[in-house]
Amino acid sequence: MKCTIRLCLLLALLGLPVAHAADTAISIAPVKTLKVDRGLTADGKACITCHQQIAPGQVADWADSRHAHAGISCIDCHQVAEDAPNASRHANVEDTPVFVSALVSPAVCGRCHVDAKEQFDASGHFRAYRQIIPKDSLHALQVVHEGRNHPELSGAPGETGCMQCHGTEIKLDENKRPTPETWPNNGMGNIYPDGSTGSCTACHSRHKFSIAEARHPHACASCHLGPDHPNIEIFNNSKHGHIYNTEGDEWTMDSAPDAWEPGDYRGPTCATCHMSGIGELQVTHNISERLYWNLWAKKSDVRGSDDVLSPLLGDGPAGREKMKTVCNNCHSETHTNNFFTQGDKAVMLYNEAYYTPATAMLDELREKGLLRENPWTDEFQITYYYLWHHEGRRARQGAMMGAPDYAHWHGFFELQQDLYKLEQIHARRLESGEIE
Ligand code: HEC
Ligand code: HEC
Ligand code: HEC
Ligand code: HEC
Ligand code: HEC
Ligand code: HEC
Ligand code: HEC
Ligand code: HEC
Repeated sequence: MKCTIRLCLLLALLGLPVAHAADTAISIAPVKTLKVDRGLTADGKACITCHQQIAPGQVADWADSRHAHAGISCIDCHQVAEDAPNASRHANVEDTPVFVSALVSPAVCGRCHVDAKEQFDASGHFRAYRQIIPKDSLHALQVVHEGRNHPELSGAPGETGCMQCHGTEIKLDENKRPTPETWPNNGMGNIYPDGSTGSCTACHSRHKFSIAEARHPHACASCHLGPDHPNIEIFNNSKHGHIYNTEGDEWTMDSAPDAWEPGDYRGPTCATCHMSGIGELQVTHNISERLYWNLWAKKSDVRGSDDVLSPLLGDGPAGREKMKTVCNNCHSETHTNNFFTQGDKAVMLYNEAYYTPATAMLDELREKGLLRENPWTDEFQITYYYLWHHEGRRARQGAMMGAPDYAHWHGFFELQQDLYKLEQIHARRLESGEIE
């Protein structure tokens, strides 16, 4: 019988005979198979045998993973101590002696992947949910305005929207299983019942946990898209996206960490610039490490803070040097330096010519009592919001990642329209002393 890697491994794990494994087209070294087989206890094997019947898709993904090759199986990630807050026995399965949980927190991954977890904990991704907790205006947006203060259903916008990207605090029901208000979600900043924070599956989806997947721009695109942070659209608009989209499917994406270098690929993906080892740089799970500006805030300042909750997390000048090191693997220093001179100019223009005058008008109207209490019914405040949160981010991020359509048509073109509109409303209100 011929068998694929996946099938051979599965048979071997279950202790079933694997005929002629050595002479299959892609063979697994017998030694490794033996090691895997020894690593699994009877309880560990039982998970696989039984779940193969229930949800074969999950077992197939796992069997395809590096974990399966290394003998790391269901029980290593899902078993929990009897007294853990999320310890549940299977509802319909009396004969499994093991306490399990569907929740697998970053602390579980961190038992084996210490560096990845430490770097993640020091990154802007770590705060994705925590930064929302104290912000009353954001809760009001989700529950009062979008959720219409509905007695039972007001949570829907947050649960199907914000939470799926940002995460939430995962709560447990009386059976120690996660509640439908908080799970499932892959949000980046989930807080788990064990207190750990994050979502390793956000980029390495379960149960394959592949680095090749995370190196593709699609792994970031499920969150980094849309009108307020169109990073995948920006990438597609850039020359790098042009190259990736024409030939990326032929590149080598599964080289070992720190061995994935130009030659395996011709152009950078999101991961190459923000995370991967390249040249003298090492892999980092801290996506804030190579940044200079903050480009999402109302005003862009240079980064310089160790506080993971600070918008200025990072070290701007050091980040810029690292990012330039990335570019210089494929470009000349003149090319790289000139590119950043162009981009920085756009960020400074936004700060000085849009953020500053718009904010001065906002402050003056507030002082004179000429702003509506509900910002979402006030033409001035709505336009101000679009100016920094949508148009302003697109102009800044488009400029810094080489996307002319976003720097210009979706960026500065719309910014000047916003500013003229703000000036007109401002003049009208000052003249009449009233909100129209
Ligand atoms: C004899 C069959 C059987 C065995 C053995 C078994 N399971 Fe399950 N498992 C099930 C069934 C059926 C369900 C779905 C019913 C449920 O959620 O209780 C399930 C559900 C689960 C869930 C989801 C629980 C939830 O709250 O949604 C996890 C995680 C899990 N199993 C892991 C394991 C692990 C790890 C092992 C090995 C230690 C294991 N299972 C052994 C049958 C089995
Ligand atoms: C490397 C760790 C790891 C291994 C090994 C692993 N899982 Fe998971 N599993 C996860 C993570 C992470 C999640 C997502 C949990 C969350 O959202 O917190 C998950 C979720 C699940 C869920 C619930 C979600 C769903 O889609 O139904 C089930 C059931 C499950 N795993 C079963 C299994 C089975 C069966 C195996 C063995 C074939 C297995 N897992 C092996 C990490 C692992
Ligand atoms: C019990 C230890 C252990 C746990 C727990 C564990 N891993 Fe792993 N993981 C490993 C080992 C060992 C390898 C290396 C396998 C190899 O090199 O073939 C690995 C490899 C990986 C890789 C690289 C895969 C590739 O394509 O090269 C990723 C990504 C990964 N793990 C993510 C996770 C995530 C996410 C979790 C938690 C949901 C997790 N691991 C939990 C031991 C573990
Ligand atoms: C599950 C959704 C999700 C995925 C997938 C995701 N991100 Fe993010 N990312 C976020 C959120 C949410 C934030 C905002 C964090 C905050 O609240 O400050 C963010 C912020 C960032 C930042 C800015 C950090 C800072 O310090 O301001 C960078 C850079 C970034 N992500 C890069 C990436 C890259 C590169 C990938 C893919 C390899 C990726 N992200 C995948 C959700 C995601
Ligand atoms: C499609 C995924 C997605 C959804 C849905 C989403 N966000 Fe975000 N959010 C992001 C990403 C990605 C960033 C990072 C932007 C950047 O770095 O430029 C971000 C940034 C932010 C920031 C700025 C970061 C900081 O540290 O202050 C806040 C605040 C925020 N989002 C709140 C929300 C709220 C509240 C909702 C729901 C009303 C929401 N987001 C919905 C993906 C999302
Ligand atoms: C923002 C997306 C993203 C998130 C979130 C993420 N990873 Fe990764 N991870 C990557 C990328 C991209 C690579 C490949 C880097 C390279 O090119 O070598 C990687 C590589 C890895 C590797 C192999 C490289 C190494 O350093 O050993 C492991 C193991 C790993 N991740 C584990 C984790 C764990 C554990 C978590 C959660 C704490 C996690 N990842 C969260 C994107 C992510
Ligand atoms: C050619 C390298 C390169 C590629 C490819 C790239 N980026 Fe960037 N990215 C940058 C640079 C440079 C900046 C601006 C850094 C600075 O502040 O000087 C940036 C900024 C960002 C920011 C803004 C952080 C903030 O402060 O608001 C996010 C978010 C981001 N990138 C995500 C992504 C995602 C997601 C992808 C893929 C879809 C991607 N990037 C592709 C180089 C790259
Ligand atoms: C893996 C190699 C690689 C890396 C890393 C890389 N680039 Fe590129 N880049 C290319 C290739 C190839 C082109 C296409 C050149 C052409 O248009 O003929 C390109 C094109 C560009 C262009 C379009 C203008 C031009 O020269 O055609 C800009 C701007 C650019 N890169 C900036 C950067 C910046 C800034 C960085 C670092 C943040 C970077 N690149 C990182 C390979 C790379």
